[in-house]
Amino acid sequence: MKILYVASEALPFASTGGLADVIGSLPAAVRGKLGADADVRVVIPMYPTVKSKYLDEMTLEFETTVRLAWRQQYCGVWSLTHDGVRFYFIDNEYYFKRPSLYGSFDDGERFAYFGKAVLKLISETGFYPDILHANDWQTASAVIYLKQKVSLDPGYADVRVLYTIHNIEYQGVYDFAILGDVFELSDWDRHVVEFDGMINLTKGAIVCADRVSTVSPRYAQEIRTEYYSSGLSPVLNLYAPKLCGILNGIDTKYYDPSADPDIAFPYSVKDRKGKAKDKKELQNICGFADSPDTPLVVMVSRLAAHKGFDLVRRILEEFLANNDVQFALLGTGEYELEDYFSDLSRRCPDKCRAVLEYNKALSKKFYAGADLFLMPSKSEPCGLAQMIASRYGAVPVVRETGGLSDTIRPYNEYTGEGNGFSFANYNAHEMMHVLEDALVLYHNKKAWDALVTRVMQMDFSWEASADRYVELYRSMLSETSNLNVKEAFHEGTDH
Ligand code: GLC
Repeated sequence: MKILYVASEALPFASTGGLADVIGSLPAAVRGKLGADADVRVVIPMYPTVKSKYLDEMTLEFETTVRLAWRQQYCGVWSLTHDGVRFYFIDNEYYFKRPSLYGSFDDGERFAYFGKAVLKLISETGFYPDILHANDWQTASAVIYLKQKVSLDPGYADVRVLYTIHNIEYQGVYDFAILGDVFELSDWDRHVVEFDGMINLTKGAIVCADRVSTVSPRYAQEIRTEYYSSGLSPVLNLYAPKLCGILNGIDTKYYDPSADPDIAFPYSVKDRKGKAKDKKELQNICGFADSPDTPLVVMVSRLAAHKGFDLVRRILEEFLANNDVQFALLGTGEYELEDYFSDLSRRCPDKCRAVLEYNKALSKKFYAGADLFLMPSKSEPCGLAQMIASRYGAVPVVRETGGLSDTIRPYNEYTGEGNGFSFANYNAHEMMHVLEDALVLYHNKKAWDALVTRVMQMDFSWEASADRYVELYRSMLSETSNLNVKEAFHEGTDH
């Protein structure tokens, strides 16, 4: 089976969040399942974040130009093999040599170019995959262009497309003024991408893809409702037969407290002495007293509203004032939240510390040092941090939503079952009371140790989920392609 993953980020080359973890680990896991017959490749843009040790390993496949409406843009294609998977990098410094991966005024154009470049990569290399697996709105244009060009390049007719939504809040929404000028789509094709009076690339990809998936079964249900879908529920309901949810896994070799070069004192589920030392080290990093019996609550998160920060803001001071507890946060994001947490760190330096950085290595120290890991998301497609935290023996406290509710079962004080703490309503005091319950259990050493043992033993590897993807790919191959989408496009338009 030939599979091409298309994404805007992948570890270890470029990362702003969970998507990079998935693209950095799922392809190798799928390859592991399929064995020698599989040819699994990945394509991402070339960013300045790619470390020189990887640049040194790369070879230049070819150089060409890519046409985007009236533009003719340079396109270099570099490649290297990582973990048995061939990674392609689309090189265009004008589009991708920027200080951050996203957030430029011309993101629409940058990723429309990327979509065109992906098709060019396919035709130039002759690597027509059986499955093109596209991820999030930055790759939606590749899906749309591929289906649009089926009549012009018969090679695309046998390519089945899976489009995975990692977070429905980011859809790629643009004004119709740039339909032709940037997206190179004609007025005849506007209905493919039109949603709510705007160009909506995610909607276009949902229409065009053979199958649509998201990253947990619960989120697949949730995004069919108005509350969770950021507007797209009517489209997802219309195309519901295409939609499914497959839980992400994590790279259990990269996130392994017994062999993690980023933490000072490795430890395992059987011998957790190292964890106590890692906690002390994190307390030092945060400028807290190193008191082994004070529970340390940690968050590692993008500072975005949907991660539940309004709840945290509502109760944090009260929670810190009323309990013997320390709170440490690592992450960057919305300025208002950054300001709030730096201010609170200044006011309560012995109990609260925010490190406003996106730093993978430091995040491991946070997981390793934590007793409790807080993730009160308003919505959470899958969430990887609760799984990583579990690996490092930090007990998750989550809101019951999306992948959080598919991975964390609440602790039951009568039976001792469960692998974390959870609350249902998006309510700050409900969260605080659950946190306080967790603090009570923390001081019951025997019960706490049993819980941490269970938490560390959870299997969050790709093992089961890679099987689910392989099943999905196989079922897609046995179906006829979503070629009727061809009729959706205005015939014969090669702009
Ligand atoms: C996005 C989602 C997160 C998910 C990740 C990988 O970052 O917000 O829940 O785990 O993508 O799929």
